[in-house]
Amino acid sequence: MEDKEVLVVDLFAGPGGLGEGISSAQTADGKHPFKIAMSVEKDPSAHKTLTTRALFRELKLGSHDLSNYYRYARGEITKQELYELHPKEAKKAEVETLNCPTELGKDNEKVHKRIKELVAKHYGPKVVIGGPPCQAYSLAGRSRNAGNKDYVAENDSRHFLYKEYLEVLSLVEPEVFVMENVRGILTAKVNGQLIFPEILKDLRAPGKVTQNKTHHEYKIFSLVASAENENLPEYKNSSDFLIKCEDFGIPQARHRVILLGVRCDVNATPAILEKIESKLTVEQAISDLPKLRSGFSKQKDCSKSWELAITEHASQLKTLFRDKSTITKKSLTPYKNLNRSEKKPTSIPNQMPKYYKDWIYDEALEVVLNHETRGHMKQDLLRYAYCAVFANLNNTSPKSRDFPASLAPAHKNWHTGAHADRFRVQVASAPATTVTSHISKDGHYFVHYDPKQCRSLTVREAARLQTFPDNYIFEGTRTNQYVQVGNAVPPLLAKKIGVTVMNLLSSCLSKQ
Ligand SMILES: C[S@@+](CC[C@H](N)C(=O)[O-])C[C@H]1O[C@@H](n2cnc3c(N)ncnc32)[C@H](O)[C@@H]1O
Repeated sequence: MEDKEVLVVDLFAGPGGLGEGISSAQTADGKHPFKIAMSVEKDPSAHKTLTTRALFRELKLGSHDLSNYYRYARGEITKQELYELHPKEAKKAEVETLNCPTELGKDNEKVHKRIKELVAKHYGPKVVIGGPPCQAYSLAGRSRNAGNKDYVAENDSRHFLYKEYLEVLSLVEPEVFVMENVRGILTAKVNGQLIFPEILKDLRAPGKVTQNKTHHEYKIFSLVASAENENLPEYKNSSDFLIKCEDFGIPQARHRVILLGVRCDVNATPAILEKIESKLTVEQAISDLPKLRSGFSKQKDCSKSWELAITEHASQLKTLFRDKSTITKKSLTPYKNLNRSEKKPTSIPNQMPKYYKDWIYDEALEVVLNHETRGHMKQDLLRYAYCAVFANLNNTSPKSRDFPASLAPAHKNWHTGAHADRFRVQVASAPATTVTSHISKDGHYFVHYDPKQCRSLTVREAARLQTFPDNYIFEGTRTNQYVQVGNAVPPLLAKKIGVTVMNLLSSCLSKQ
């Protein structure tokens, strides 16, 4: 890719999953061509995470000395002290994330001014990444809004946040853009009309919408299906834009729409992503992390009373699964003296395939970050243990109909099937289900497969399923951290996209 730096503008950046992956793409001679010049994020805790990671990147790529970053990760120094030890890199990181949380729409003056400055002094290729949040047309959003008789989709400003994206495309005029979104975007309608074809039309000619001077037009490619006509890419089905993460080495069945826009004067076609035959499982992704116990949310919490509750459960489970000889009281005897959080790594993750270990694992870190359990109600713990044992026997999470009556929660919808998935265990031998920001609200959909830990997943486990490297620090409260992790594009997938974009740009640059 010669020595050309690629300027990256990351919009709606969240904790930076997409940016992390794209900026990790490396040339054959070890260079990192993508430089994130600006990340725009309005949420204060995600913004903090972004800035911490930007500093990590500055240190890694600049001085190669990460020792103080690790000291911060281990809690040996404060963030302030870290900044004081590396003032130049810290300043750069803060400039990259615009010095404070920033909202597209409301803070456009600031954002657009900065974009113009960056573009004016950059002579290499430019890339815009990010996905406008579209809760309004996500499937969950639509079913929630269905109950709201005053809801009018057309008045929902979130519908049109993607126009902010178009505005930035018009200003940057990037060679390539990457836009991520939920699968609901493919089927969402406004006034009875599908909006996806309209979105594609707008993205093909952003200047027409923004009435900005740009005349640049874009070809929109899928990253997983080949276009019929490369000069005017069209696809048979809109679902051709859907990426199934589990097919690409991610331990999670996350299905997201990702659009790759290539400026029409860029004479190159992207390759599609290469599938990985074997699926990465939850167990391969997280089983090396220290074992933890859950806590009690509505009663005194200590390891002795937890062990007692789990021992009681073991007897009940043995009765419930009485025809299964593999379920013995011994196999359910609780681990002794587990903690609710553990910072000391207990083993090297040799259960992982090499590509994943190389990406996730950092020996120099010497600490496990964000690995702390939540509290649960005692009755739910038995349900979690039931789910976990059921899944270990059947390789699938139980539906409500699979629960014995004695474990049915007092929920009026339990028997109707409307809440068939009220408790979902992440099956050890398969990729996880989608890690969403809902994990911040309750852990019922994200139950650990080990009945003897009897708990929902920690932030770090969720981050592993999202392929965040272990040295990625999530800032903010635990709830904030879950939201950030659930919102992100898996960085390892994003790296693959970065490599595709890098190859595309280098082939077009070499023709110039
Ligand atoms: C789906 S997440 C993005 C995830 C990100 N691409 C990643 O890979 O980590 C969307 C983010 O957009 C942010 N956001 C929503 N509206 C915004 C706005 N108007 N301006 C800036 N950020 C916004 C939200 O706070 C959220 O963190």
